Amino acid sequence: MHTFEAKVGVEKYPVFIGNNIFKELYSFIKTYNKKNVFIISDSYFKNTNTSYIKDLSFIYNYYCLFVDGGIEAKTIPNYEKIIKVMVENNIARDGLIVAIGGGVIGDLSAFIASTYQRGIDLVHVPTTTTAMIDSSVGGKTGLNFYDQVNLIGSYYNPKAIFMDLNFLSTLSERDYLSGICEAIKMSITSDKEMFNKFFDIKSFVYSRNKDILEDIIYWSVLTKLKHVSGDFKEKSKRLILNYGHTFGQTIETYYGLYQDKLKHGEAVALGITVAAKLSDLLINNFESKELFEKTNELLNIYNLPNSFKKVNSDDIPEISELTKNIVNDKKRTSEGNRYILCESIGKANIKIIKKIDLIENSFKCLYL
Ligand SMILES: NC(=O)c1ccc[n+]([C@@H]2O[C@H](COP(=O)([O-])OP(=O)(O)OC[C@H]3O[C@@H](n4cnc5c(N)ncnc54)[C@H](O)[C@@H]3O)[C@@H](O)[C@H]2O)c1
Repeated sequence: MHTFEAKVGVEKYPVFIGNNIFKELYSFIKTYNKKNVFIISDSYFKNTNTSYIKDLSFIYNYYCLFVDGGIEAKTIPNYEKIIKVMVENNIARDGLIVAIGGGVIGDLSAFIASTYQRGIDLVHVPTTTTAMIDSSVGGKTGLNFYDQVNLIGSYYNPKAIFMDLNFLSTLSERDYLSGICEAIKMSITSDKEMFNKFFDIKSFVYSRNKDILEDIIYWSVLTKLKHVSGDFKEKSKRLILNYGHTFGQTIETYYGLYQDKLKHGEAVALGITVAAKLSDLLINNFESKELFEKTNELLNIYNLPNSFKKVNSDDIPEISELTKNIVNDKKRTSEGNRYILCESIGKANIKIIKKIDLIENSFKCLYL
């Protein structure tokens, strides 16, 4: 088990990663007044009788609201519905929200926590690879709006994060590998050794070996914290974590947020393919070619899409549809759009690009 303190700006909170850590979670929750604890859990845990679930049964000692996962849940109507239930149950400002679920439940609950009575304590209990590797750490909250991913959101840190590896045993293969893509992405921008390791540990990842998963998650959380700790509100260094996101999000938006067609992590996979191509078009040397080729090789190994042929839909967008959304990207500044590029595997930086034809050419690699 790994237990350590995350430091984000002036805030600090404990992170637990390991097997059977529900006891630690229960001890933490018990420090709050029982009637002010509000649990928001993915409905998956209501309807399943998997072996680890009995250790989670203490949640029924508290008000527990089950919400369906899936990106469709990150909406204003859902936000409103949950806030109403909290008001009806008199959840006080010094209470606690416990978010048990994947990135969707985490993002939705964290947005609620950051706004309910101007902020109530929050604990994340991430249950998917995406949520453990990425979304529960870093304090970004979000709701989708107007067909755009995370258009509404805030920055809000939890009081603690409890990551129990048992959860990952029941995740569907597609959701499981989608989350692994977030770790692959971070290795491309900041750690060549880890990137190469992903080639060697393939069989362990596929068999969901808990030691390997704990290593990957621990490495990912530390790597993310390194980028986030001095740049909570995404002014500079943190932006590197968005490698491929500008492209991934425009593709995600095109598919209308329907997870069956494209999972969030699959959109990231397509996005990092385009980002590697853009880096290669601009830099055009041995390292940039290696970046593009090896990114494709690794995505193939982990069954992640690197072309539209591999997306679970016959609907293929026109490039103009994709570049249109990029103009509205949240990372845009008044000088132009900011892109994260890699000079080589493990080395990323930020560049402002105004030439839209260069961006269009980068997208072409997804049509092969
Ligand atoms: N805040 C951030 O920094 C950040 C970073 C990355 C992604 N995200 C967000 O995360 C979301 C995607 O997260 P996700 O992939 O976890 O999606 P998700 O929360 O929808 O979970 C995927 C599916 O797995 C099910 N599920 C959850 N836990 C399970 C378990 N242990 N066993 C079996 N099934 C389980 C859910 O019901 C759902 O159907 C997106 O909305 C994305 O925007 C946010």
